[in-house]
Amino acid sequence: MFEIVNKVRLNPGVTMMDIYAPPVARKAQAGQFIILRAEADGERIPLTVAGCDPQRGTVKIIFQIAGGTTLRLDNKNAGDCLPDFVGPLGCPTETDGIKKACVAGGGVGCAIALPVARKLASCGAQVDSVTGFRNKDAVILEREFSACSKKLFVMTDDGSYGKKGLVTAPIKEELESGTRYDRIFAIGPLVMMKAVVETARPYGIPVTVSMNPIMIDGTGMCGGCRLTVGGKTRFACVDGPDFDGYEVDFDEAAARLSAYRDFELAEREKCCNLFKKEIYR
Ligand SMILES: Cc1cc2nc3c(=O)[nH]c(=O)nc-3n(C[C@H](O)[C@H](O)[C@H](O)COP(=O)(O)OP(=O)(O)OC[C@H]3O[C@@H](n4cnc5c(N)ncnc54)[C@H](O)[C@@H]3O)c2cc1C
Ligand code: FES
Repeated sequence: MFEIVNKVRLNPGVTMMDIYAPPVARKAQAGQFIILRAEADGERIPLTVAGCDPQRGTVKIIFQIAGGTTLRLDNKNAGDCLPDFVGPLGCPTETDGIKKACVAGGGVGCAIALPVARKLASCGAQVDSVTGFRNKDAVILEREFSACSKKLFVMTDDGSYGKKGLVTAPIKEELESGTRYDRIFAIGPLVMMKAVVETARPYGIPVTVSMNPIMIDGTGMCGGCRLTVGGKTRFACVDGPDFDGYEVDFDEAAARLSAYRDFELAEREKCCNLFKKEIYR
């Protein structure tokens, strides 16, 4: 069993937890993920390793309450245990040779982007970060990004915090003013990652995107996480989650992600009725 040693609510829909899992904490690197179950009879969901403390043996996860399993997970508190917490899975983010990078995170994608920004900074790269949220209430991890970035642009859709606009706006401004990034890392909703790719394309800047398709086993056996990348079938769990943004078929990925929408909606409604009091207190 894997104990939750700390739980912090970052905004009304996003929760951070530290889980006691020493073998994972010793090995996990930026870009990798774990698969957990919140209940012994529950489904397995993948979450990115947002950080780890090998001394304390803890692994940080940051998750958005999206549906049934994340609702059940959010209903747990420090001292409770998770039956499964398997990892690290996937390939670490490649940062070799990068001297100047832009890291863009959209919404809860910032939880995945932060360890990448930290890894780049710790290797001596200069990092500009761009984070984007719906509004002020959704803003997370500002202090943490600020600590590892030369420049930090916080964007909100409605302008209620930071600057009004999409994450692509400051990236475009930087590129237009002559900033040459060795690579841009874009992590967030598919539409956002695709937009970052199109912003970078005229400048020929490489873009790494982090793909989050539906995963089941996380070990390359089931094919559930397949994507088309550069015209070939790739499995996000073992070949990714990072891929060359110019090669990903985003439209196919979006269609596959919505395949179970009706089932997910039904499950969410069931769980909302169960946990409403705890979640929306
Ligand atoms: C490699 C990877 C890393 C991820 N890291 C994070 C993270 O750090 N923080 C975070 O908030 N979310 C992360 N996600 C997404 C997270 O796994 C889903 O939000 C979660 O599975 C939702 O499950 P649910 O039962 O609560 O919601 P559901 O209602 O079942 O699903 C809500 C949405 O989540 C996605 N989803 C559902 N089941 C899965 C699954 N088994 N695998 C992948 N996506 C699924 C679908 O897009 C779905 O529409 C990651 C996904 C992947 C593949
Ligand atoms: S989750 Fe099964 S092959 Fe990737």
